Amino acid sequence: MEKYLINPNQKISKISKDIYGHFSEHLGRCIYDGMYVGENSDIPNVNGMRCDVVNALKEMGIPVLRWPGGCFADEYHWKDGIGEKSKRKKMINTHWGGVVEDNSFGTHEFFELCRQLGCDAYINGNVGSGTVEEMNEWVEYMTFDGVSPMAELRAENGHKEPWKIKYFGVGNESWGCGGNMDPEYYGDLFKRYNTYVRDYDSNYHINRIACGPNGNNYHWTKQVMDKVKYHANGLALHYYTVPTGNWDHKGSATEFDEAEYDSTISKAYEMELLVSNHIKMMDSVKPDHRVKLVIDEWGTWFDVEPGTNPGFLYQQSTMRDAVVAGLTLNIFNKHADRIMMANIAQTVNVLQAVILTDGDKMVLTPTYHIFKMYKDHQENTLVGSFLTTKELTSEMNNKKSYPQLTESASIDENGVVYSTITNCSASEAVEIKCQVADTSVTKITAEILTGDIHDKNDFENGERVTVKAFDDFEMTADGFIATIPACSIVKFIIK
Ligand code: AHR
Repeated sequence: MEKYLINPNQKISKISKDIYGHFSEHLGRCIYDGMYVGENSDIPNVNGMRCDVVNALKEMGIPVLRWPGGCFADEYHWKDGIGEKSKRKKMINTHWGGVVEDNSFGTHEFFELCRQLGCDAYINGNVGSGTVEEMNEWVEYMTFDGVSPMAELRAENGHKEPWKIKYFGVGNESWGCGGNMDPEYYGDLFKRYNTYVRDYDSNYHINRIACGPNGNNYHWTKQVMDKVKYHANGLALHYYTVPTGNWDHKGSATEFDEAEYDSTISKAYEMELLVSNHIKMMDSVKPDHRVKLVIDEWGTWFDVEPGTNPGFLYQQSTMRDAVVAGLTLNIFNKHADRIMMANIAQTVNVLQAVILTDGDKMVLTPTYHIFKMYKDHQENTLVGSFLTTKELTSEMNNKKSYPQLTESASIDENGVVYSTITNCSASEAVEIKCQVADTSVTKITAEILTGDIHDKNDFENGERVTVKAFDDFEMTADGFIATIPACSIVKFIIK
């Protein structure tokens, strides 16, 4: 039996709700079809935004949304996406699928989407192919409340009131699709562009996010940190889980054997090392923790669904993805003192999406259910916890080991403790004994998401994988004894 200790007296830090953030790019059917169908669509919508998707995301507790990319951000010229829609420029989305981008979803539409979702805005600016002036004017357009050319243009386009930007990304993947830059060069550019990202509202600071490393590129972190340490608020790491480790043959989203499952989980667990090591590297440059870590792209990346546009990155999602989401969010929770925000890629119809759509149909993926289960952690206080566990090994991923069980625990302002546990094993259940320090437990409720590693929701059956009440536990004076099934994620609420 494994031992699990939770210490509610050890209050570590607040878990920002923004760790549960999402990412939406002009890529495939994420924005168009997925979230925005236009005012004239037969699909029920409010100002063009799909009601079914908006309602589902609200219920899941979406705190912040990143837009317009991704690689698209460094090709996006915001003035193409304002003003009367029929006059907006039509162009080819050269990066993603070569389809026509009619710019009908632009700045006003993004803020309308955020308004309907009740979430904060994370805008990613264009450093790769845009000018300092263009970025400066966009920030003025969005946030300036006074007499200025951009504020007047915004009013002419129907929005007198300025909007608020919680986060602003200065470039995206500047080491790759965002300009193929060296870290030193990017660091200098960051400082220059960032100078003109003005805080027009002196009572509201825009958090500036610098482009961070790709996976384990610690050199990038060090060099960029050295340049931006007094200017940026966050440094954005990108890390995707590719089961085979081969970008040309990443593996199928739905047809995989147990070895590929194990490899996926072990690769997802590498996030723990990446987060710890990048934080250490950041601390070696600036020990005062002024700059926080952001992970604004993460998730599984498989081969696209057969028969779909390869540039659309459309993939199905199974219980395997749910385990990846559960363990990753546990990692983020446990580093909540240093992680400012994270954004899974991408919200609808792209990569590890929480929602899939087909015409007027909508399906909630297993990953959706994880975000909804974990929403209780948002804005709680992370508390000390420790769970003993067997280590598993992935033959396919160079015999790397990873824990069978992962966990995190938080406490809310009423003293209720929430703990989320993942059992990553495809086949083995585990018995655990939990003790909550200095606590007489009076009530425990629990819920579970579990199934075979291949189980998924699709348009034929959208309810195959759903959250159920979990009662396979016995309450003790100071905790519980439970059996955590294979391939499952369990949440305990302890009063
Ligand atoms: O999320 C898909 C793409 O992955 C993004 O556009 C880019 O930033 C990353 O390479």
